[in-house]
Amino acid sequence: MPTLTARDLLFGEVRFPAVWLRDNCHCRDCRDPGTGQKLFGITDLAEEVVVATVSESADEVTLEFQPDGHRSVFPREWLLANAPDPSAATDHRSETAKQLWAAADLTEGLPQAVWRDYVADPRCRAACLEAVLRLGFVLLHGVPGEPGMVLRVADTFGYVRETNYGRLFDVQAKPNPNNLAFTGLTITPHTDNPYRDPVPTLQLLHCLSNAADGGETGLVDGFHAAALLRAEDAAAFQVLTRTPVPFAFRDNEAELRTCSPIIELDPTGLIRGVRFSNRHVQPLRLPYDEVTRFYAAYRAFAARAYAPNLQLNFKLAPGDCVVFDNTRILHARTAFSSVGERHLQGCYADLDSLASTLAVLGREVNT
Ligand code: OGA
Ligand code: ZN
Ligand code: ZN
Repeated sequence: MPTLTARDLLFGEVRFPAVWLRDNCHCRDCRDPGTGQKLFGITDLAEEVVVATVSESADEVTLEFQPDGHRSVFPREWLLANAPDPSAATDHRSETAKQLWAAADLTEGLPQAVWRDYVADPRCRAACLEAVLRLGFVLLHGVPGEPGMVLRVADTFGYVRETNYGRLFDVQAKPNPNNLAFTGLTITPHTDNPYRDPVPTLQLLHCLSNAADGGETGLVDGFHAAALLRAEDAAAFQVLTRTPVPFAFRDNEAELRTCSPIIELDPTGLIRGVRFSNRHVQPLRLPYDEVTRFYAAYRAFAARAYAPNLQLNFKLAPGDCVVFDNTRILHARTAFSSVGERHLQGCYADLDSLASTLAVLGREVNT
């Protein structure tokens, strides 16, 4: 039997605060029936709201509040499903929603699919998008080798994030490059665009040709590297969550800068992002002790991020498209020799839309 305390509802073991219940009323006066969205703001509710009476049926609990005399009906199941659960405070970007990996953990099989199946089969599509959320990436094979296809891939789960590099960018060696991307040099594990706010949370790279020697891709689970640092050197981990690092990019047309820690935590203290690219780190203008502590911690994180056992290596073949979480997965490429024989097209997009597409697909796939 649900009972009342002085002001709240005691339902089984759980005490639901009166203000929480009043705020979550589902009646037609409180919520627009079409959208389910609330029609009031928090200050429209009495500050001293209390549950004055409670009655129940087999599947519902009816409450009357004072001082407004408002009546609310809560399905018992809804109360149980929304009972306090601190882990529900984390979102799909937090480490608890992830499966951390080192290269050897993926020898059983990479998260991958063939484009034809991905397009035709919603279950295949759902499995691929779920892999991006859980493992941080998916590899699609057989994506037609036409320029611009990378945008079509992004369209299947979200919206292209246009930047100063365009809606898409060509990753190939070019004369007068404005970015190391456009050379044949080695690029060590990093996240892209750390100088952008907000940072693009997804990146796609579609391979049109890769006949050059070298030009292999490496992926590293940056959350795993951060979790190792936390386990082995908690003080260094803390430093990287608290030190604002200036990142910048500058060319003839753009001057982008932002300040952000290397490791971002969510409000509950869990890892929710890494931002790591020494190419773009600007001079830290902090006191001597903070700078020296930062560099020691930064080096300790990098040592883990660069550990060969963490890095998954493969060579993109024409038609391959890798989609990865740019707030988690560090990507790298080895040097390549000849100009003109390696051509990738890339674009950015965002994880929130990918998660939304997966949730909507789940409605179809699970029914
Ligand atoms: C980059 C980059 C990947 C590649 O330029 O930032 O990661 O495979 N390139 O060339
Ligand atoms: Zn109501
Ligand atoms: Zn990159």
